[in-house]
Amino acid sequence: MAILKIARMGHPVLARRADSVEDPTDPEIHFLINDMIETMRDAPGIGLAAPQVHVAKRVVVFYVPGDRSGDGDPGVGLTALINPVVEPLTDHREVGIEGCLSLPNMAGQVPRFTKIRYTAQLPNGDSFSREAEGYHARVVQHECDHLDGILYPMRMENLSTFGYSEELQKVPDEVKEGDHDG
Ligand code: NI
Repeated sequence: MAILKIARMGHPVLARRADSVEDPTDPEIHFLINDMIETMRDAPGIGLAAPQVHVAKRVVVFYVPGDRSGDGDPGVGLTALINPVVEPLTDHREVGIEGCLSLPNMAGQVPRFTKIRYTAQLPNGDSFSREAEGYHARVVQHECDHLDGILYPMRMENLSTFGYSEELQKVPDEVKEGDHDG
């Protein structure tokens, strides 16, 4: 296990399309996933994509903290996805604030589909499919965008909401829901 260096916006590895993983059960992929989890926890963040640690492969890790709104929501446990594919289940998008470990100390309002299905391979080689809504859907869209060379500012429709997190703390609380570092 090792904590890996995180690439920041501007590094070419974040701008390219990552390569598919041929064998999800390859021990090299499992070592990568373990290091990504350790790096994500150290940062700390709630999601990380392999290009963010300079590895141009289609691998992401994330979790969703539970009880975000005090509603007893159990969240989503630590998940590693290989070759994930996101399919929107609605045309409806909502904006929410996002951050990214590749743009430290910054945040912005990003529109995301509110309901998706994602399919992937798991580290044991099994196929996996899950539906997600709201913040869970946001996190998965953010992480999977990294695999296509897309950083959240490229999804923003109102760049006046993009800025340093410390400054954005001054905006009302309701728009901070969805705080995310991935
Ligand atoms: Ni990110």
